[in-house]
Amino acid sequence: MSLRATILATGSHVPARVLTNADLEKMVDTSDEWITSRTGIKTRHIAGPGEYTSILAAHAAQKALAAAGLGAADIDVLVVATISAEMTMPSCACLVQKEIGAVNAFAFDVNAACSGFLYALSVAEKQILADPSLKILVIGAETLSSRVDWQDRNTCVLFGDAAGAVILGSSHRGDGLLAEKLFSDGSLYNLLYIDAAQSLNADLRNEDFQGSSIKMAGRDVFKYAVKAMESAVQVVLDKAGVAVSEVSLVVPHQANIRIINKLGQKLGLDPEKIYINVSRYGNTSAATIPLALDEANRAGRLQSGDLVMLCAFGGGFTWGATLIKWQ
Ligand code: COA
Repeated sequence: MSLRATILATGSHVPARVLTNADLEKMVDTSDEWITSRTGIKTRHIAGPGEYTSILAAHAAQKALAAAGLGAADIDVLVVATISAEMTMPSCACLVQKEIGAVNAFAFDVNAACSGFLYALSVAEKQILADPSLKILVIGAETLSSRVDWQDRNTCVLFGDAAGAVILGSSHRGDGLLAEKLFSDGSLYNLLYIDAAQSLNADLRNEDFQGSSIKMAGRDVFKYAVKAMESAVQVVLDKAGVAVSEVSLVVPHQANIRIINKLGQKLGLDPEKIYINVSRYGNTSAATIPLALDEANRAGRLQSGDLVMLCAFGGGFTWGATLIKWQ
């Protein structure tokens, strides 16, 4: 059998604090009915003091390491997909390395917004194909609560904080990453962006500083997201020579239940085969897919040999799909 990169284990972590739609009703002019009917979101987890992106990521990484029976020192490469690290330099990945003691790894971040986990997985896969002995931690982690304008009802109801991690190794048994296709279109950057970030730098926490929150043309993003993910999934199915009916589980980026349902309809998917948890976490950007994968894995929804389709869409625009045969 040919060499492939395969997911050996998964882990995830969310902050304890839960923000409900009822809580949001007290903060902005909104309602549980509006949020639920337009987005499917009921609750989201919000980081507390000191719960930086690297800290959520480190917790997720430790759970994935425990599930794999590996120690942090066994990790050769550590990649974090994020757009909400607490510092610009060093990378979030270096802070995670310090936190968990992955002393033998080289560490770096990938920025592809909500598609970041698929991009990071792709980069890690190429490392495995070049050196099958490697063990790689691939993490998607965000604290988007630090990037949201909490007075803007158009966006503040949508996002949450979380981290998910996988450990990638090699396999000759036929399992692993079968096919992928990633896309970007930077000409559409101004439909979804953050032009400057909050950080640990107290100067940037100035209340008059307006540049730090997510800006989004919601309707445009919605339309592009459905079309882009549908075509990416089709390209990957064709590349792998797999029919959509053969896919056991689709794990899409969790931004909005209506985007996910439309995607499912367009692909002709059995709704039972789509993993959905957006109601509990909201949109956690690069963390949605590894968080959902970990939940599905721990719930026994991923069996050996299952074909699992991941697909994502996010700021950039960036999008893509990846087909995996579960180990
Ligand atoms: N509560 C109540 N009303 C709200 C609201 C809220 N939280 N947010 C917006 N509204 C209002 C708007 O102000 C607007 O009012 P108006 O008609 O008086 O101007 C009205 O609801 C309709 O707004 P609109 O933006 O047209 O709604 P929509 O049906 O497109 O739904 C989104 C808005 C954001 C839920 C939807 O566009 C969406 O999901 N887009 C994709 C977002 C996304 O997933 N982004 C990340 C992708 S990675």
